[in-house]
Amino acid sequence: MSTTEQRVAVVTGGARGIGAATAVRLAAEGHAVAVIDLDEGACKDTVEKITAAGGRALAVGADVSDEAQVEAAVARVADELGAPTILVNNAGVLRDNLLFKMSASDWDTVMNVHLRGAFLMTRACQKHMVDAGFGRIVNLSSSSALGNRGQVNYSAAKAGLQGFTKTLAKELGKFGITANAVAPGFIATEMTKATAERVGMGFEDFKAAAATQIPVARVGEPDDIANAIAFFTGEAAGFVSGQVLYVAGGPLD
Ligand SMILES: NC(=O)c1ccc[n+]([C@@H]2O[C@H](COP(=O)([O-])OP(=O)(O)OC[C@H]3O[C@@H](n4cnc5c(N)ncnc54)[C@H](O)[C@@H]3O)[C@@H](O)[C@H]2O)c1
Repeated sequence: MSTTEQRVAVVTGGARGIGAATAVRLAAEGHAVAVIDLDEGACKDTVEKITAAGGRALAVGADVSDEAQVEAAVARVADELGAPTILVNNAGVLRDNLLFKMSASDWDTVMNVHLRGAFLMTRACQKHMVDAGFGRIVNLSSSSALGNRGQVNYSAAKAGLQGFTKTLAKELGKFGITANAVAPGFIATEMTKATAERVGMGFEDFKAAAATQIPVARVGEPDDIANAIAFFTGEAAGFVSGQVLYVAGGPLD
């Protein structure tokens, strides 16, 4: 355990992947962590990992794109763990396709989970942060924000989250709240595994091919992103706000 003052953190999409690693990392920093995902039962593994290590965690089922569910989830967190003052907007989905084959519903789904979801979660949590005079918001962007074939919906959402982050930093700074974005490159999770399946490649081959394009010669792991998020959520990062940190094993073109 570190000497960080204990806060209540909320991590969306915390059942697996980057969200699960982040929830465990923030708990190791001494924070109580609400693990939010679509299915409450799916959060069990993450919560058990935290409690087994002596931490405090709560599983909450909610769809971040649903206004009523978000309001209810944040109210439950405040009730059962305390007022949330750290928020990691991590929940995400892919609906990849080339523009001419992309359905309006695949466009909407991606916008709703990433952008509407981050908006609803942040709006619900900010009042607790303002009351506390302290807040840390971290939004998950992506290297795809710079443009990526087959991801016109996802790249637009991830670039949108960068503008969202910078505006939050400007609006909320005077309340002791920072907002930053972490933009991962290739991270080995169920999300990239599903992409490998979609393009008809084995995951190991897919990762090896990706690694040849990455200066540190490996793909990222969820903990690589959790570590960057932990920096932004720390007490010591109070003068770092409105930034986008690419965590991709090297610079991006
Ligand atoms: N894996 C990568 O290479 C990579 C790269 C850049 C950015 N990211 C971003 O990082 C974040 C986490 O990605 P990951 O690779 O861990 O993905 P993942 O698919 O392994 O996990 C995403 C989690 O979000 C949850 N989720 C999806 N829709 C939700 C909703 N409406 N409400 C609540 N929860 C919902 C899923 O159930 C899942 O548990 C995402 O925002 C993703 O876009 C990932």
